Amino acid sequence: MKTVFINCSPKKRFCASAYFLFLQRLFVGGEKVTEKLRTPADNDRILGKLQGANAVVFGLPLYVDGIPSHVLRFMERMETYCKENGLRMSVYVIANNGFIEGKQNEPLMRTFENFCARSGLSWGGGVGIGGGVMLNVTRVLFVVQVGLLLLNTALSAVHTGNFFPVDAWISFGKSTAILLYFNLGVLFYLIRMGRFIRKGTPCGKKYTRILIPSFIFILFADIFFIVLSVFEGGIFRGWLAKKKVEER
Ligand SMILES: Cc1cc2nc3c(=O)[nH]c(=O)nc-3n(C[C@H](O)[C@H](O)[C@H](O)COP(=O)(O)O)c2cc1C
Repeated sequence: MKTVFINCSPKKRFCASAYFLFLQRLFVGGEKVTEKLRTPADNDRILGKLQGANAVVFGLPLYVDGIPSHVLRFMERMETYCKENGLRMSVYVIANNGFIEGKQNEPLMRTFENFCARSGLSWGGGVGIGGGVMLNVTRVLFVVQVGLLLLNTALSAVHTGNFFPVDAWISFGKSTAILLYFNLGVLFYLIRMGRFIRKGTPCGKKYTRILIPSFIFILFADIFFIVLSVFEGGIFRGWLAKKKVEER
């Protein structure tokens, strides 16, 4: 069984789609091929990889309640390619969005469903994930925690000769449990979808999100974007920036 995973985020690195596809890969067996679709220059290479595939999993961000334009161009090419080559794989989708409700990915899922009907492919279904940016940050926090644990262990070994600092491990366990909790909805639905991908049957559309209350999400999202805004050009840059006078 061959599964092609296509990371459709236009970002060069640290995209949420890569994180969710990484998790999905863990729950799918057989031959696994991962490709990155960023620009039209990637189209032909990826189409070639679809030969002999039983399933293809698109991992992509939601853009303006829909599919990013470079992915739409790829889908147009894929439709023709699959028809010409008689390819009949199942198509699964992992879509993530910045706002908290994963249900916002519904129009995107429908577009994929229509694409499958038109291309003669089997619509396998998908998982729509809200709070994708924040969930992506949880993996960084996990790496930081592992780093802190290693540092604490090293310091404890040097100062006291103890290679197993219990307090540091308890603190690591607690923080990891919290991060895991945030990701539980995603993990549940990706494990579930992995089962269907392995069987080659449709799993329907499921929506989930980061497991925190919305008011906390909004607070953190506001802080995150204010900090980002300051680092990337100043606060309220759109409002206060000097406007260019349009030449007529
Ligand atoms: C041009 C653009 C449009 C976006 N539109 C939406 C949107 O309509 N709804 C939403 O919740 N998030 C929207 N987002 C946020 C992305 O979906 C979110 O940042 C996502 O986690 C990016 O995934 P990636 O890291 O895999 O690229 C938009 C982001 C960009 C850059």
